[in-house]
Amino acid sequence: MRVGVPKEITDGERRVALVPEVIRKMAAKGFEFVVEPGAGSDAMLSDEAYEEAGATVGDGVWGAEVVVKVAAPTDEEIAKLGDSTVLVGFLGPLTNAHTTSALAEAGATAFAMESIPRISRAQSMDALSSQSNVAGYKSVLLATQHTGRFFPMMMTAAGTVPPARVLVLGAGVAGLQAIATARRLGAQVTGYDVRAAVAEQVQSLGAAFLELEAGKGAEGEGGYARELTDEEKAAQQTELADKIATFDVVITTALVPGRRAPILVTARSVEKMKPGSVIVDLAGESGGNCELTEPGEVVVKHDVTIVSPLNLPATMPEHASALYARNVQSLLELLVDDDGELQLNFDDEIIKGACITREGEIVHAGAQKAVDAAAPAPAEPETEGAE
Ligand SMILES: NC(=O)c1ccc[n+]([C@@H]2O[C@H](COP(=O)([O-])OP(=O)(O)OC[C@H]3O[C@@H](n4cnc5c(N)ncnc54)[C@H](O)[C@@H]3O)[C@@H](O)[C@H]2O)c1
Repeated sequence: MRVGVPKEITDGERRVALVPEVIRKMAAKGFEFVVEPGAGSDAMLSDEAYEEAGATVGDGVWGAEVVVKVAAPTDEEIAKLGDSTVLVGFLGPLTNAHTTSALAEAGATAFAMESIPRISRAQSMDALSSQSNVAGYKSVLLATQHTGRFFPMMMTAAGTVPPARVLVLGAGVAGLQAIATARRLGAQVTGYDVRAAVAEQVQSLGAAFLELEAGKGAEGEGGYARELTDEEKAAQQTELADKIATFDVVITTALVPGRRAPILVTARSVEKMKPGSVIVDLAGESGGNCELTEPGEVVVKHDVTIVSPLNLPATMPEHASALYARNVQSLLELLVDDDGELQLNFDDEIIKGACITREGEIVHAGAQKAVDAAAPAPAEPETEGAE
């Protein structure tokens, strides 16, 4: 099977979908690769490194049997896809209706990394996890940059400095990595989540777990949290407000698939924080977990710095690409038969679950729902005498 690796063109996207190390292993198994010149340059991967690994560097990327990407394709990229080329990447099926519609119109068959079912057989393909790990780690480093305080306790001749108090809201993959990283830096860490199973995971990292009554046990489908009701949201915000004020750093990572991110830190909570405190809001792409967040910006409100980075994994392109490439490798190995030829077995739960469009038809219920929701409402029929 021939696989194309384009250079990412989305602003700020420095990752690449496959790295030479993975290409070398797959080439040994009979896969062929064509890589666009410069595809890995932002991740410090030279064209020569790809060639040495066995890839061809040059034209013809978009006409390969499978094209692997990181970011969702632009309309121009979709127009370049070959007639029967299969596309793989982060396609944002639950939120990015435009991409789904454009892929369908182009007659494409496309697989979204986000939609790979989170079953144990698919763990090696779990790109949401591999990239959330990067984001969780980096969020703590951002917090250290923006705070004027130490993270660890310091006992010096000039006196003792207490450790920073860090609160991590949302303890999924990114949150747990943030907790572990803040702990390694010596902070006193507390974690919180609405899913009951998380308490033990937070504590096993040496952090305290914040117990709240509101939203307790709000498990949804597939291991995710469900959206809280309006009453639960209000109660959660009120309970959190007093707690938040006691921390120096708050890192927020709470998400509900396909929904606006829940507001956990209200404007009132920010106002109550100590001057100089820092909030790092990782949910900016979904609207933010803090009411005063401006996605993509660093703002100071009520003497609190609120940082909301977008696409944080792209700021660590070397390791983020290396991990993503291994996820892509596992998926690609599932898309071939014993002879190494492309064969899409739609009876396989992973292939079926990750497929968004199949030869132009939208086959993913969540993606179809997002497309329907984005469609303009049909015009009201004109009635006689209407003004
Ligand atoms: N292959 C696998 O089996 C596999 C791999 C990775 C993760 N998982 C599981 O998937 C689940 C989701 O992980 P994720 O990191 O992708 O989640 P996510 O990115 O969707 O959300 C991040 C966290 O926010 C929490 N959250 C949502 N609403 C909240 C609210 N109102 N208040 C507080 N917290 C809130 C969620 O519970 C989650 O822990 C976890 O159970 C994780 O263990 C499974």
